[in-house]
Formats: sequence, C-alpha cells, structure tokens
Amino acid sequence: MSMAQKPAKNVSKDVFISELISKMTLEEKLGQLTLYTSDMSVTGPVMRDTYKQDIATGKCGNIFNAYTPEYTRKLQDLAMQSRLKIPLLFGYDVIHGHKTIFPIPLGESCSWDTLMMEESARIAAKEASADGLHWTYSPMVDISRDARWGRVSEGAGEDPTLGAAIARAKVKGYQGSSLKSKETVLSCVKHFALYGAPLSGRDYNTVDMSMSQMFNVYLPTYKAAVDAGAGSVMSSFNDINGVPATANRWLMNDLLRKQWGFKGFIVTDYTSINELVLHGVAANEYEAGVLALKAGIDMDMQGSVYYSFLTKALEKGEVKIEEINDAVTRILAAKWDLGLFENPYLYCDVKRAKSEIMTPAHLQTSEEIAKASVVLLKNKDNILPLKAGSKIAFIGPHVKNQRDLIGNWSGAGDYTKALSLWDALVQTGNASNYSYAMGANVTEDTTLIKKMYIQEFIDKRSKEVLLQEAIAVAKNAEIIVLALGESQGMSGEASSRTDIRIPENQRALMAEILKLGKPVVLMVSSGRPLDLSWEDTHAQAILANWFLGTRSGKALTDILFGNTNPSGKLTMCFPRNVGQVPIFYAEKSTGRPFDENIKYTTKYLDVANTPLYPFGYGLSYTNYAYSNLTLSNNQLKTGDKLKVSISVQNTGKMAGYEIVQLYVQDIVGSNTRPAKELKRFAKIYLNPGETKTIQFELHTDDLKYYNEQLEHLLEPGMFKIFVGRNSADLLEAGFELK
Ligand code: BGC
Repeated sequence: MSMAQKPAKNVSKDVFISELISKMTLEEKLGQLTLYTSDMSVTGPVMRDTYKQDIATGKCGNIFNAYTPEYTRKLQDLAMQSRLKIPLLFGYDVIHGHKTIFPIPLGESCSWDTLMMEESARIAAKEASADGLHWTYSPMVDISRDARWGRVSEGAGEDPTLGAAIARAKVKGYQGSSLKSKETVLSCVKHFALYGAPLSGRDYNTVDMSMSQMFNVYLPTYKAAVDAGAGSVMSSFNDINGVPATANRWLMNDLLRKQWGFKGFIVTDYTSINELVLHGVAANEYEAGVLALKAGIDMDMQGSVYYSFLTKALEKGEVKIEEINDAVTRILAAKWDLGLFENPYLYCDVKRAKSEIMTPAHLQTSEEIAKASVVLLKNKDNILPLKAGSKIAFIGPHVKNQRDLIGNWSGAGDYTKALSLWDALVQTGNASNYSYAMGANVTEDTTLIKKMYIQEFIDKRSKEVLLQEAIAVAKNAEIIVLALGESQGMSGEASSRTDIRIPENQRALMAEILKLGKPVVLMVSSGRPLDLSWEDTHAQAILANWFLGTRSGKALTDILFGNTNPSGKLTMCFPRNVGQVPIFYAEKSTGRPFDENIKYTTKYLDVANTPLYPFGYGLSYTNYAYSNLTLSNNQLKTGDKLKVSISVQNTGKMAGYEIVQLYVQDIVGSNTRPAKELKRFAKIYLNPGETKTIQFELHTDDLKYYNEQLEHLLEPGMFKIFVGRNSADLLEAGFELK
C-alpha cells in the first residue's frame, strides 16, 4: 500500500497537519471526527454495518473494538485506499490488562502501590500495542462513594488524593515517555466528569453537585491525569447540574482546555451526542451535533451525528469551519504523536503479538499485583493462614469458576487461561487434603442470569442436591473455606444494584454450613463493597478478593496458606447496609455530631453511622504498632513545609507490608470541612521486630480548599494531623497556621 501522507523529512507537526487539512474536503474532515465500532466485539447498543466502506471512502477515521495485527492491518489497508490515506486510529477498552488480566481497578487500588499500578498499565500498553491497538479508554478515574453504582469496580474508590496518585501512575504507564514508541498507547481519561456520582447510584443517572464538592473531591483525579499528559479525554453520559457533559461548554472548553491547559482531543462516550436529544437539551440530532461541537467535543463515538449533520450546520452558519478544523487538528495530532503518519502499520507486527503477550514476566507481575490487592477483613483467633496439612473443604461457586476471575471489562482477556482457586490448590501438591463442592450457583434469580448472559455457567442440578453435596463434603473437613460473592457481571456498566449483599441463595448455603459448627473462612468475590454485616458476625475470617485476574488462584492460595502476608487496604468503605450508602470516611461533623446518648444528634435509629469496614482498613497476619507521632513545627506560615514523622513497628512474627496513612482536618474555616482528608500515604516493608520511622512532608498548599465561589482558600487557624493504619484508627497531633 502506498502511504501518500508520509511526512517529508524535516516537516514540523503543525505544518504537516495544516497542509493536510487544507487538502481535505468537508466530508473527509467529518470522517476524522468519526469513530465506529468494528463488528469484532460491540460494547454498546448501536452498530453501523457499513463501517468498512466508510473507512475506504474517508468517511470514518477511527475504529474501536478491533484488534490483532492481522485484523487492524486489513482495516488500515482500507484507510490506505481512501483519497488522502490518513491512517486509522484504533481504540479499545483495555481497562485492567489486555490479555494478561490484572485485578479489577477497584481491587488493584487496594494495593495503594502506585508503582505496581504503573507497571500493570505499562504491560497492558505493551500487549495492546503488540496486538494492533493505539489507544485505550483508560484510566477510568471517576471517584465514587456509592457502592450501588456498578462501575465502582472500574475506578480507584472514594478518595481524591489516592485516586489522583493512581490516575497519574496509569497515564505514565500507558503513555511512557513517548507515544511514538511502539510499546506505548494513548490514554483516555474518563468519564469526564462526575460520572461516579449518579443519583441513587443508578448508572447514567443525573448528577447534581455543589461546585465546592466538585472541585474538592470529584475533579482532582481528572486534573491529575491531564497534568500527567493524558492525550485524550472521554465525555461522560451524565448531566451535571442540568447540562449533559457532552454539551457542556463550561466543562470542556473553559475548565478542561482553558483552565487546565488540556491539549489533546475529546471523544464522546458511546452515542452520547445522540443522547442529548433524550436528555432533553436538543430537539433533534442536528441540534445535538451543534451543541456538542460548540462545547468542544472533537470525536463522535458511534453516533454518526457529526458526519450526518455538521455539513448542514456549517451551511446555516450555526457552526464555524474553524471549530471543525480545530477538532480535526487535535485528532490528527494524536495520530502524528503515535507515529502513524510515518508508518500506519507500526502496531501491526505479528511477531510482537506472538512474543510479547502473556509472557511469563507479565503473568508474574499480574500475580504479584493480585496478592497485593487482597484485603483481609477479619481474622478471629488468627485462623488464617491455614495449615497445608489440614483437611479443608472448599465450597462455593467461586472455587472452580474461571469466567468471573478476569472481571468485567476484560476485553480481549481469555478466561479459560485464568487460574482458578481449585487448580491452584491442586498445584500446591496438597490437594489430597482438600475437597470440593459447588454448594450453590452464583444466583438463582433467572432474570439476573439472563441479563448477565451466564446461562452456560449455571449448574442445572437442583438447589437441594447442590446443598447436600456441600454438607457431605463439609462434614468430613476440619475447616471450611467458602468462596462466595458476586459474579463479574453484577458490577460494571449498567449493573447497579439496590441489594448489595451476597446473593440470597449463597447466604442460605452459608447458613446451612454454619450449622455444622466448624470454623468458616469466607472469601468474597465482588466488584464493589458489599454489605457483609451478617457474614461478619458468623465467619471466622473474611477475605475481600474482588476479581483478581489471570493469576487469581495462585494469589489466593498464597494468601490462604501464608506464603504471602495480606497487605491490601480498602479504598471504599464497606457499609453495614445499603441504607447507609453513600458512605465515605471524609464526612463533615454536622452541627449535631453523633452522640449515642443524645437523641437529636446525627444518626440512624437502626444502624450505627460508621461503616462495617472503614476506608483504609485491612488486616495482616502480623501486627503493627504506631508510636511517636511528631511534627517539625506547631506553627506554620503560608509557604512553609511541615514534616510529620511516625514510627511503625512490626510486633508480630511475619514480615509484611503496611500502608501508613496521613489525614488532615481543618478545624475552623469559613466553610465546613471534612473531619478527615487523606493527604499522604506510604507503603513500607517490615521484618518481624523491625521498626521504621517514616517522614511525610506537607506543604501549606495541601491545606487549601475550594469554596462555592471557587476561591482556592488557605485559611489560618488550627489543624489536626492524623497518622495511622486506617481512617478510623489514628494517632493525632495539631498545629496552627498563622
Ligand atoms: C462505556 C465506556 C467505554 C465505551 C466504549 C461505553 O458504554 O461507558 O467506558 O469506553 O462504551 O466501549
């Protein structure tokens, strides 16, 4: 294929792009603003059958849901048949790994290990780029405090400081130091903005939020990703205080582009320009297209609205050619940055696809991250770790299950390559001590089974038969490990739930097993925080294991038998029941702070205010003692730095990682402030008996916050510093800002 658009030797990007634009017809320009899904896999409601002809005729410049070097080469060949031979950009949802699958992002965030998270993104980029891809729709950095919302599984939890650190790590991991390297991919920060705060936790629902909440809590993660150089941003489905993100000029042009200085391009989410009509801000798709372009949206995902209506809008003078040219320029710039004009086939390398995907090193990293993501929630009488020689019954739908291990949004992942808990037990060589029964299906709700397309994974035997088999197996064991929880499809997009307990039939199984009076260890798979109140009162130990990816089984057996000391800490509170949701640690005190003995204080009649397991919480097989919290100063002036040190000792018998957390409270301000806000954290390794003194450094800028008028305030007065093992177990000191 000829590559007519190949840049001349010394031509600059700007000159090349403006010359190219000067040759383009309006139709070709609109083609560059158009993104269609291929039919290899489809992630939304609408499909355009003619996408191949569209590519060959310059009507479509970008494709998603197509990968492999062979397939992307075929489609790129079509683009090379078009008049100007502008290369296609290939995007895909590479969310937590491409073929080597890592834990779901919520799980991975519990490692609090930003270097590891950068590494998983680097590996994902390496595999995706080896498989023909240029662009990933990741990181998803939507802060969420609502466990009902299914997409909490894709994010980093409830906290902006931790979320921002992870956002930076991900962008760095995907994009590396140069997009031109064939091992990196363009990242896409999503879903801009506030998609994680839908009313009632229902996906796609309205977002109504104060400006101060937006700027203090929900926007910092997107800003962090943009500051880290993310090359693209995806607009979210939701509206924000009355204006859908995709039509939101303030959000896209004023905030993102002008204030934050974002230079990349903005793509919509799946058909979200068309959805402006259903939102009720446009009477028809023509109006929707005008609104979106005026708002600063560059690329139309799957909607064909720009392609179909912008010609007319230009004729009528409702949009300007400069606005179209600007959008085209930003998209061509990304193609340039990726090196596609020099070689449209740079990422179509069959040899790389064969040798760089699912390598032993990648799988090893996935295993390490999986181990670091598990959170030990309870361990009464140190029943864990288990002894390999014990007679143990492993019961539950998650013991042999493979499909759920790789979680949702596992795109190109192949679940048949994921190591189940049972297969990993067999690999330990001690399987003769272990027995298995499924005990129950993941759910018996036939409507849910249908909605999640999991009919093929359902054991058709009756509930009673499954239960009796489990009881027989349990009777012969000393300890019972129950592997229960959600199926991967119970979280993710369009998977909000109002009952966030383990499905009823699995709880019934657990209740029957408990009647045997033997110790029960519960391993919970989920894509969100669950209400585990009942389980917490009955199980002797509980592990939160999310969906851990390709190497799940190995990570879990290592933790169960103590080859690895669990170190994960929660990044979202686990509520006592769904009625507490949204629940998060950074609450304000209110004018009537909780007091057990005073009726008219903030509380429920039927449940405590506190979560079952707080943010930052997670146990270990060893113990850590915190002491000597010291501040370098007790008075600060604007611009000063404060050094905060703390000693942590491993007082137990096993080496391990501890995640040390520092929170701040601004006691009196002109606005009410949260009782605690995470500002720093450190993950340290301690041998038995070892003590380390950690020093954190804070700057007075860390104490600033936004009010409703969006003034960024630093207010004098007293502050508290808290350091400790989780958001509810902290040592305290104070200082004054003069
Ligand atoms: C999701 C996005 C995703 C897109 C493309 C949408 O439905 O909201 O997160 O990137 O589909 O697959």
